Amino acid sequence: MSELLIQGGRPLNGETVVQGAKNSVLPMLAATILTGDTVEIENCPHLRDVTNSIRILEDLGCTARWQGSTLTVDTRGLDQYTVSDHLMREMRSSSVFLGPLLARIGAAELSYPGGCELGPRPIDLHVAGLRELGAEIRESGGMLHCQAGHLVGCELLLSIPSVGATENLMLAACGAEGITVISNAAREPEIVDLQNFLNSCGAEIRGAGTSTITITGGRRLHGCTYRCMPDRIVTATYLCAAASAGGLIFLRGANEAHLATVTAALRQAGCDICADHAGIACRCEERLRGIRSIRTAPYPGFPTDAQAVVMAALCRSQGVTVFEENIFENRYRHVGELCRMGADIRVSGRTAVVTGVENLSGAAVQSTDLRGGAALCVAALGAVGETRISAIHHIDRGYEDITGDLTALGARITRL
Ligand code: UD1
Repeated sequence: MSELLIQGGRPLNGETVVQGAKNSVLPMLAATILTGDTVEIENCPHLRDVTNSIRILEDLGCTARWQGSTLTVDTRGLDQYTVSDHLMREMRSSSVFLGPLLARIGAAELSYPGGCELGPRPIDLHVAGLRELGAEIRESGGMLHCQAGHLVGCELLLSIPSVGATENLMLAACGAEGITVISNAAREPEIVDLQNFLNSCGAEIRGAGTSTITITGGRRLHGCTYRCMPDRIVTATYLCAAASAGGLIFLRGANEAHLATVTAALRQAGCDICADHAGIACRCEERLRGIRSIRTAPYPGFPTDAQAVVMAALCRSQGVTVFEENIFENRYRHVGELCRMGADIRVSGRTAVVTGVENLSGAAVQSTDLRGGAALCVAALGAVGETRISAIHHIDRGYEDITGDLTALGARITRL
């Protein structure tokens, strides 16, 4: 099992290029099915979930090939509709294959995704919406058996603006006859990226980024070449690394418009952040200040995926910050590990109160989940001494090369 070794307590100084967005590329890979053609995705990150999506596509009869960071997928040969239980367990977000499989070949079979480290991850909204579009879905023995002779566009109202459900329904609606309107849709930038990708393939979708998305279905899609957006959570992580360790960094290719709530919080804490079309620069020279409260919420609110890394940066701030986690139940698992490093954090239900301490000290800690693991790196960079982080396979799920990136930013980090 690999580990990360980080020597903390030295300011960062350097620049790195931000990888493509995992949460954008995963639904996009499922969407390639709709084209029945060859699609080139540029800036595609090399991550295990991407490899798992490729394995699903290959099991379904498609082929894929890498050239640097460009992934070419050929979905002409698709002739299967079952996603293996093994791959479903590996990657919870594989449920996003449901919509495109139903739209392209009228059938899909996959196992019910279980919970994950963040707590239960239901897909009831996906299933209900697909049924309204005309799919017949049966659940038996932990499997979902889905059939759709003919999907027909309709009005769909989501009770929660779920990212996954919005994507799945957009994808299914591309294959439905007539117009589908999704209300209370999720507004995340990754959904705008998916709309832009699909429209480049010939789809007719409007409204992504707002709460109402309109899809005119039934159009014949074709292949395209598309550049995936930069990863806003990786961006947030490296900004927090600079906030924690101090110094001056530049994140090339990052887009501040995608993470305005995070940069606003870091500015309030005392970071100096400037952004232009080339990327984001962040300078932190003084001890951070606590910023009263951070409440996670669906976009454009504060992202749940950035909660852990911002918390890690604020462990050494002056003052108190109160976090409220409103999206997932089990998202404070990193707190115990931060406390091993000397942080003062008290959790009660969905609230975590961080009282800044003067110093953190290096320790042996364990990643508990993807963003929680990244938070430990952030804390370690600002801690006195050496931190050894284990279970880093969690971190690898979302960061293509965290060791290389942080080294480029001036950190002392080694992968053992
Ligand atoms: C996506 C992101 C994840 C991020 C999350 C919230 C991907 C691959 N993952 O996950 O990194 O943390 O958005 O920004 O893009 N819910 C239901 N029923 C459903 C679907 C969701 O009750 O059918 C609930 C969930 O339990 C959760 C909330 O809605 O409490 C938000 O979930 P959702 O937006 O669907 O997150 P994901 O798409 O799973």
